[in-house]
Amino acid sequence: MKQTVSIKGGVNTDLQHDSATKHVTGRADYTDDIAEPVGTLHAYLGVSTVAHAMLKGIDLDPVRQAPGVLGVLTAADIPGVNDVSPTGRHDEPLFATDKIEFHGQPLFAVVAETRDAARRAAELAVVDCEILPHALDPVAAQDAGYPHITENLTLARGDADAAMAAAGNRIKGQITIGGQDHMYLEGHIAFALPGEDDEVVLHCSTQHPSEAQHMVAHVLDVPSNAVVVNVRRMGGGFGGKESQMNLFCCVAALAAKKWRRPVKIRPDRDQDMVTTGKRHDFVVDYEVAHDDLGRIEAVRGDFAARCGWSSDLSGPVTDRALFHADNAYFYPHVRLVSQPMKTNTVSNTAFRGFGGPQGVVAAERMIEEIAYALGKDPLEVRKVNFYGGEGRDLTPYHQKVEDNILDRLIAELEDSAGYQTRRQEIIAHNAKGGIIRKGIALTPVKFGISFTATWYNQAGALVHIYNDGSVHLNHGGTEMGQGLNTKVAQIVAEALQIDFDRIKITKTTTEKVPNTSATAASSGSDLNGMAALDACEQLKERLIAFAAEEWGVAPEQVVFVPNAVQVGDEIIAFNDFIKRAYMARVQLSAAGFYKTPKIHWDRAAGKGRPFYYYAYGAACSEVSIDTLTGEYSVDRTDILHDVGKSLNPILDKGQVEGAFIQGMGWMTTEELWWDDKGALRTHAPSTYKIPLASDRPKIFNVALPEWSENRELTIKRSKAVGEPPFMLGISVLEAISMAVASVADYRECPRLDTPATPERVLMAVERLRGA
Ligand code: MTE
Ligand code: MOS
Repeated sequence: MKQTVSIKGGVNTDLQHDSATKHVTGRADYTDDIAEPVGTLHAYLGVSTVAHAMLKGIDLDPVRQAPGVLGVLTAADIPGVNDVSPTGRHDEPLFATDKIEFHGQPLFAVVAETRDAARRAAELAVVDCEILPHALDPVAAQDAGYPHITENLTLARGDADAAMAAAGNRIKGQITIGGQDHMYLEGHIAFALPGEDDEVVLHCSTQHPSEAQHMVAHVLDVPSNAVVVNVRRMGGGFGGKESQMNLFCCVAALAAKKWRRPVKIRPDRDQDMVTTGKRHDFVVDYEVAHDDLGRIEAVRGDFAARCGWSSDLSGPVTDRALFHADNAYFYPHVRLVSQPMKTNTVSNTAFRGFGGPQGVVAAERMIEEIAYALGKDPLEVRKVNFYGGEGRDLTPYHQKVEDNILDRLIAELEDSAGYQTRRQEIIAHNAKGGIIRKGIALTPVKFGISFTATWYNQAGALVHIYNDGSVHLNHGGTEMGQGLNTKVAQIVAEALQIDFDRIKITKTTTEKVPNTSATAASSGSDLNGMAALDACEQLKERLIAFAAEEWGVAPEQVVFVPNAVQVGDEIIAFNDFIKRAYMARVQLSAAGFYKTPKIHWDRAAGKGRPFYYYAYGAACSEVSIDTLTGEYSVDRTDILHDVGKSLNPILDKGQVEGAFIQGMGWMTTEELWWDDKGALRTHAPSTYKIPLASDRPKIFNVALPEWSENRELTIKRSKAVGEPPFMLGISVLEAISMAVASVADYRECPRLDTPATPERVLMAVERLRGA
């Protein structure tokens, strides 16, 4: 028979996202595209319009009497527990009962014949409440004596106080780091179909189907085996659909069971932004001691975060901020403390980097401060502080950094971006004193990979080979545009040595792989790829044993070759081989499993190895600012980002580009603004500005270091890519900072809170000019 040299679409090859064409032609099915059965009802949330109050009563009669309305759901309609807290802390009621804790809090849901009718009716409730004073940000919350919403964390090594006291050079500073809305193109949506007895099936847009399943079960007071949650794909999640979907799934399921009809809930963009959590904003107070070379001697940091009204994922998010407050730098003596503050705002949640980026911003600001104090190039200060060999390799959480590749990575980027020459040209340009000032910055990132909740680092997969040789792949991860399904299918293609297009990628469902973790912490392909590989290995083992017996050869003489199996000297087409195996009654289905080795974490002691490995990267950005208006543009960005041995270079580059742009938006124009009543005023794209295509760097060079390979035994020696490059956007902030500093001859490190909107840049320029 004729044989191709290699399979199409194996690992380490450029393969476009399996749904790319469907995405751009509108043929990809999202939850809202599923055909609605006759009789489908629509739910909408009624939310609070005050930030903090005792709830005395709600008159829902006007809602019930509105046209098209079937009824209303309140806390009284919940058969199980009125709680959707993802961490089991029971501090997040689905519907408020006696207390309102933020402007936008769900109070009830209306169920009507049409979405429009439900949405209009939701406005008609009359809420009787007694207003209480509110605290919107972490500082106000501290002043008001609000509690930590969850236990805080301290990471310490050495004696930071003594080292600080003894130091010759000390800098104290503060930075306020803004939050961020996820701005996924597809908003939250859940669609519930009631089944017989206690059963319900949901189609929704969640990164965490198993959690949604358990949440619905608790709320309905049924066992988890009565609830099925399905996710074909999301139109973006970015962390915003890790826990925030629970609310919508529970409302849809409750209504579906109550009215025994299919129920869909899809908030509009404004309600989505007002009612669901975002990236945590932080106020960081830092103190750093350094020597005359710029080497850091000691660091003390206090990280206060706006967590919102309930704990949600604020514990692990604020922990991860501390885990990344060193970024790539060795701190000989260090003490970092988190202050996860309860506030009367929406409950903040996961967002790409999961608190890590906020920690990295603080680290980079400290470096900049030192550089300006010593009159040095910040890159030089960065380099002398990188984690190094023996004695300079321990993180504040006592994990050894053993895989640092930053020296080489930075040297290559510095060279390919022409950093030194361009910096000199920029300094010369600024020295002319014009209105347009320029800045350049090269910043690194080191990001720890693994869930810090150790038990989350497990995954399952299910692979069926049908007797025609076609393969059905299912795993516990969810597809949100990142290309996870493509990567896992490539792994299966490679393992079975069959072309990629013979594999059917199917929706994620709690029916096929149970007890899954959220697709988060960038570990989707690390975990699910390994689980799928395990399933394939099991299948191959069975098939090899079968062939060895059937053909009477040694097992080593059975080899999977491209789209065929070679048994001794005979080559049998894969489909024919599978048919033979089926006829011989070989089980052609396998469930795979994986758990990450080596990791452990003792939170109380602040010690362990929370991360299996680190991903590294660096970006060099050049900007121009207009010192009369504060407006700016990014003129050029060069990126070198480590993904180990890439499973799929074009998908990985796409992730790096997208993450950089999203990180840049966070650092520059995306501003969340609450008014004094606690209402979020930037609740639509009209007032909340994400980067446009025209905001991308005019020159944008993205490369992956081809020499990199994960030293740990990850799937095909690749590294996670979803979140780490987000922090490359920080290079834009530091470049803007340099441009601003030029107006006062770089004598001072400008205080630049983020987002560094044109308004803030202008104020920073004015402040320095006045100084
Ligand atoms: N890429 C796209 N296109 N859309 C997304 O929603 N989410 C990011 C990242 N890349 C996201 C994305 C986040 S927050 C994470 S944790 C990872 O993808 C999750 O997927 P992975 O673990 O498969 O990388
Ligand atoms: Mo990503 S914030 O871990 O979903």
